[in-house]
Amino acid sequence: MNIQAEKLIELVKERHNSRKRRAKFICVASGKGGVGKTNFSVNFSYILSSVFGKKVLLLDGDVGLGNVHVLLGLSPDRNLKMLMKGAAVEDVIQHFEKLDVLLGFSGIDTFQELEELDVVTVINKLEKVSDNYDFVVLDASAGINENVLKFAVSSDTTYVITTPEPTAITDAYALIKSLHKLYNYEHIKLIANMCRNKNEGFSILDRIKKSCENFFSFSPKIAGVLPESQNVKISVKYREPVAAAFPSDPYTLAVKEVASRETGEIVKEEAGGFWNKLKNFFKVKG
Ligand SMILES: Nc1ncnc2c1ncn2[C@@H]1O[C@H](COP(=O)(O)OP(=O)(O)O)[C@@H](O)[C@H]1O
Ligand SMILES: [Mg+2]
Repeated sequence: MNIQAEKLIELVKERHNSRKRRAKFICVASGKGGVGKTNFSVNFSYILSSVFGKKVLLLDGDVGLGNVHVLLGLSPDRNLKMLMKGAAVEDVIQHFEKLDVLLGFSGIDTFQELEELDVVTVINKLEKVSDNYDFVVLDASAGINENVLKFAVSSDTTYVITTPEPTAITDAYALIKSLHKLYNYEHIKLIANMCRNKNEGFSILDRIKKSCENFFSFSPKIAGVLPESQNVKISVKYREPVAAAFPSDPYTLAVKEVASRETGEIVKEEAGGFWNKLKNFFKVKG
């Protein structure tokens, strides 16, 4: 091959690689708190980046109670407030191996503070940076708060996490009901965490799915069952994802299965996209 042809091929490759990505936005939500959202978000994002070689931005969206940084041993000071004061997103993003982390909303102490934020600036800054990623994973606050719903329905997929506890199941169902009834949102995937075995998890998820089908003719997908594992608690203590510290732990393998399926699904180029939908919700122009 002559040198000109080689140069041309290089140029085409470069163009292809620098082409703007359309990041897939994934929201991790739950009705009840303490069901394992943050552990799932952290390990799922870590696995997508380290095992599947995806470019992933993990965004802590838990207002007031954000603790992604705790699980990854990162500094709590580099957060959204820094961004508000004019810092570049790139300077606020922290890294855990190949995973990028932005303590987005965790520096915001209350939802009132969130309402008062200059949402335009924040969204515009985040919108630009998210083009560099394959996945943006948002660890949301617990509950059926309006802001959680806005984040979820703007996302391409929302994982709703429950545990076998009856209160967690009821709250997960209530969240799905709000997402569907208020916003007609259907991109929901269910996860049962802290299960004794697969049967326990799948029977819970089947029950939720059947209730959704019976009461509002809508069928959420079942994404997987995550086992209860002592190693999750140990890793939290050492501030390292269990997927990094215990790559063959059953919890790690179960999250890997969920991540693997996610990488196999293609996002539809829907009009709007995450940031535009969010801007509409916050009634932001531009
Ligand atoms: N699969 C699991 N096995 C054992 N403990 C878990 C598991 N998932 C989460 N935990 C523990 O449950 C607690 C809450 O988890 P966390 O991810 O912070 O929940 P959330 O973000 O929903 O509030 C933590 O102490 C965590 O170590
Ligand atoms: Mg959490």
